[in-house]
Amino acid sequence: MQLVRLKANSFRNLIELDLEFSPGFNFIYGPNGSGKSSLLEAIYFLSLGRSFRSSLASRAIQHGAKGFNLFSSILGKYPTTLALERIRQGKTKVKIGNNNNSISELAKLLPLQLINPNSYHLLSGGPKARRQFIDWGVFHVEPHFFQIWQRFQQILRQRNAALQQHTPINQIKIWNLELVEISNQVTVFREKYVQQLTPLIIELVKKLLTLSGLSIDFYQGWDRKYTLDSILDSSFTRDSNLAYTQFGPHRADLVIKLNRDPVHEILSRGEQKLLTCALQLAQGMLLKKITHKSCIYLFDDLFAELDHVKQHLFMSLLNGLEAQVFITVIEESLIKALKSRVLKKIFQAEKGKIIEKYPI
Ligand SMILES: Nc1ncnc2c1ncn2[C@@H]1O[C@H](COP(=O)(O)OP(=O)(O)OP(=O)(O)O)[C@@H](O)[C@H]1O
Ligand SMILES: [Mg+2]
Repeated sequence: MQLVRLKANSFRNLIELDLEFSPGFNFIYGPNGSGKSSLLEAIYFLSLGRSFRSSLASRAIQHGAKGFNLFSSILGKYPTTLALERIRQGKTKVKIGNNNNSISELAKLLPLQLINPNSYHLLSGGPKARRQFIDWGVFHVEPHFFQIWQRFQQILRQRNAALQQHTPINQIKIWNLELVEISNQVTVFREKYVQQLTPLIIELVKKLLTLSGLSIDFYQGWDRKYTLDSILDSSFTRDSNLAYTQFGPHRADLVIKLNRDPVHEILSRGEQKLLTCALQLAQGMLLKKITHKSCIYLFDDLFAELDHVKQHLFMSLLNGLEAQVFITVIEESLIKALKSRVLKKIFQAEKGKIIEKYPI
């Protein structure tokens, strides 16, 4: 999918804009505070119905404005228009084509990967981000996953509520039955996805980094030597004391190590950035392979922490992806230095005004 037009009104510091993007590369340059990340945030909003900066959508409303509006045209397998509106005290309203839709419909339509200076949390943060990483992929390649995942969350909540009320074990066992069945379904989907993804990650890592001893393993949320059923039984007393379920798919993780050490404790910042990029690029490649849909990549401050050699290497990799890419940089000279032969547009950000700089 490609987002070829964006209109934004009262979003962050952006001055009302109506831009046409390239279906290939789009570079945005400008000084600190000029609106580069805000532009990416507007695109992110259209894909996920939320911000990557704040859990409060209303924070993105321009100071002094009642609400913001975003509108875009997308091309690809299902060409359509997307409109999103958010007022201060209201809910986010979404329209796909002429129909009112829910936010979850947006994500299906416009798969998007964001890589920004916080992305290294994928490696150094807790398992939640890596679970979300796996689930992003499964969600886009397995149409039934979302429903199964929602059901799993619901049963888990009910079991945890029962534990909080000190429900006896024989009654908890009723929840266990359904929890085990749905957990196994979630796990089969996740495991299959990670198996397909891992070779693509390894291939990309080889191109971007010189690492030996990298291992990527899926942890399903409990020891695979045992069934979840038996784990739930043996951990009942502790579950009951803690008033929550200790083991299950909600504890799953993608364990990434370098010779058995956590990668973030070994790799430099630049190397962590490249590894994170490899993980996220691999997801886009797998998405394309399985569904023929391409995802949009947003790279905020891409070249920070990357040396010139790595910058060029990375760009040549991106060239081969055939995806729409948005890249922000501070210095215009960085774009000029890139010998990118792909279709591209360059935009300048200045005090919230985004203008197209050169024709293609
Ligand atoms: N709701 C808002 N209304 C108006 N302005 C806002 C709002 N939220 C943030 N800003 C301002 O918008 C400006 C643009 O921020 P943005 O993060 O887009 O800049 P940037 O070009 O990415 O800068 P950097 O190179 O430092 O990352 C900031 O100066 C910020 O203070
Ligand atoms: Mg920024």
